[in-house]
Amino acid sequence: MKYCTNDFLQMKNAKPIAMLTAYTCPIARCIEQAGVPVILVGDTVGMVEMGFESTREVTIEHMEYHISAVRRGAPNTYIIGDLPNNTDTDPEKALSNAKRLVAAGADSLKLEGPKHEVIAHLVACGIPVVGHTGLTPQTATNFKKVGGTDADAKRIKEEASSIQRAGAFMIVLEHIPASLAMAITAAVEIPTIGIGAGAECDGQVLVINDALGLGDYWPPFSKQYAHIGQSVLEVAKIFAKEVESHEFPENILDFARAGKH
Ligand code: KIV
Repeated sequence: MKYCTNDFLQMKNAKPIAMLTAYTCPIARCIEQAGVPVILVGDTVGMVEMGFESTREVTIEHMEYHISAVRRGAPNTYIIGDLPNNTDTDPEKALSNAKRLVAAGADSLKLEGPKHEVIAHLVACGIPVVGHTGLTPQTATNFKKVGGTDADAKRIKEEASSIQRAGAFMIVLEHIPASLAMAITAAVEIPTIGIGAGAECDGQVLVINDALGLGDYWPPFSKQYAHIGQSVLEVAKIFAKEVESHEFPENILDFARAGKH
């Protein structure tokens, strides 16, 4: 069953929301088969798949490519697409870019920061919006936790409320103290999705490469459920060794002569 935007509103205080990122068709296929209700095609793709230093290099064309691949792999899963850096700087620009990502397969769009006019415009034009506050990587100068001072915590809490007022139906809280995430979750009516924001959010999102252990760095708050990078390394080594030693491929002529084929 494919979830719709309203289902997530109803899940607040009822059922924790599990969200994973995906960027490719085969991973999206697995996530759909697992029954995860929502996939985020995040601009983290720039760092974990494309090798950029930040998410700022990601373009709308990159996002179209990845969202369409994920949609082909997960035709029945709710997909949130990220509006990448500088594609949402004013309401009209954001709308034309949002339409491109919806055409690629997104059900809704996520954008970073308190861009109230942009959020309100997209929502008024029928595009559901997910907000994002706390650490916002498109503008951050580092990846340290934010919201540690009273002033910063107050700003982030106000930002979350104003993003809700602008019309967002969900909000991602990234890398903030658990106590602040708990306070925001209690204060807003829309579901909060935490990443590095403690256990008291309405849901949790993980970057799939972090969850898979695919990469050479992952944030301290992520969890590695597997070590796929290690498996890839081992497969590549064994394959190269078998080609060099003529173990692979098996010699078909010999099999044929022995009547095995
Ligand atoms: O781009 C992304 O994957 C994100 C998550 C880290 C929430 O914004």
